Amino acid sequence: MQDPKAYIATHKERMLDELIELLKIASVSADPAYKEEVHRAAAYTKEQLERVGCTSCEVIQTPGYPVVYGEKIIDPNLPTVLVYGHYDVQPPDPINLWDSPPFEPVIRTTETHPEGAIFARGACDDKGQFYMHVKAVEYMTQTDQLPCNVKFMIEGEEEVGSDNLAGFLKDHLDKLACDIILISDTGMISRDIPSIQTGLRGLSYVEVEVTGPNRDLHSGVYGGAVANPINVLSQMIASLHDEKGHITIPQFYDKVIELSAEEREAMARVPFDEKEYKEHLNINAVQGEEGYTTNERASTRPTLDVNGIWGGYTGEGAKTVLPSKAYAKISMRLVPDQDHEEITQLFTDHFKAIAPDGVQVKVTPHHGGKPYVTPIDSVGYLAAEKALERSFGITPVPQRGGGSIPIVALFEEVLGVKSVLMGFGFDSDAIHSPNEHFGVWNYFKGIETIPYFYQYYTELTKA
Ligand code: BES
Ligand code: MN
Ligand code: MN
Repeated sequence: MQDPKAYIATHKERMLDELIELLKIASVSADPAYKEEVHRAAAYTKEQLERVGCTSCEVIQTPGYPVVYGEKIIDPNLPTVLVYGHYDVQPPDPINLWDSPPFEPVIRTTETHPEGAIFARGACDDKGQFYMHVKAVEYMTQTDQLPCNVKFMIEGEEEVGSDNLAGFLKDHLDKLACDIILISDTGMISRDIPSIQTGLRGLSYVEVEVTGPNRDLHSGVYGGAVANPINVLSQMIASLHDEKGHITIPQFYDKVIELSAEEREAMARVPFDEKEYKEHLNINAVQGEEGYTTNERASTRPTLDVNGIWGGYTGEGAKTVLPSKAYAKISMRLVPDQDHEEITQLFTDHFKAIAPDGVQVKVTPHHGGKPYVTPIDSVGYLAAEKALERSFGITPVPQRGGGSIPIVALFEEVLGVKSVLMGFGFDSDAIHSPNEHFGVWNYFKGIETIPYFYQYYTELTKA
């Protein structure tokens, strides 16, 4: 594989402009108000796959948002890489906290990104990252260097749980047949410490509703005598952790695989600057489960977090009211071998059991997903390692991550194929937050690195 840098330099502006066009499309899958935009992003993605020489390009309908497919088969006897990504994005809220509108991409420099970063919802998660793959394939087809087959499967429901994707996989087993799945939808530590993510956490997401009296009451007339659902919910939530930061749901940890001493030592060797971590977040202390490091807490340990809580009066000024209802959205990040359906059940049973007299509790499960850990001695991992080594000049370190991509475990279950998580974002890129961005340097580094993956993967599978 020739060094892609010269090709990239020649086509830099166009490659950026094409991504910017994609980022202008407000493909928010969670909110039906954006429905047309989500479909527009699918159409744009398909068009771009066609333009880089893919065939059989299709926007394939599902009961939800469609999957975009395209392939370039050069020889059925060669290995096939399946690229997965998502063209849907998180809602941009809270919009007033953005320094520039979320769907009007602009390039600004930051401390971490002196070459500039593109600010837009989806810049890093995942449009900027999946589009690197489209451009990497452009490089290889335009320069006649594609060493194996490639298939693209870019979905539109990742941010809402990929509910229709399991069915899609089962319906398209032949189309999706491949040897390895390559995904850039995670991050790396920094440009000096490239890393390959070796794990994703699973997820159990529930919504709870606590009901007290049959109507909102005057908090003076009834306050003190009738259970206040918000007070009760707060206490119930507080009781879900003990003073050591452990989760108190019975049997919650039963299936958690503890890391070996060697694995923990390997993790501890990965450079981590706690002072810088705290400074970036403007916090004066980290917190979490006793006996574990910050990196462990955020990747190899399960967690329980309230994502949103509401009820009563939240408008301007003061209204004296004892509300009838209180709500919260709660997520639990899971690690091997926790099962999300089982955890959802354990949560539900426990949450109902701790409800005091005077209130009623309802628990509604949302989506879930399985955790995933990748081997570090597989051909896929080694190819990614060599690719990053080549473009960064540094051997990447394996790193377990804390986020979730539920479909990855299903790829292995349904297609029997492993995934490589070669992400180019940084934790500071503010995915899901206001001012999400993706470094221009990261974008082009990805386009430069990906062709090497194809080369090494093809070489290593032949060997
Ligand atoms: N790309 C992220 C997952 C991610 C981010 C993994 C950073 C590792 C590092 C993905 O788009 C995402 O946000 N997933 C959701 C889960 C989904 C079911 C809504 C998540 O992790 O909250
Ligand atoms: Mn993503
Ligand atoms: Mn996301």
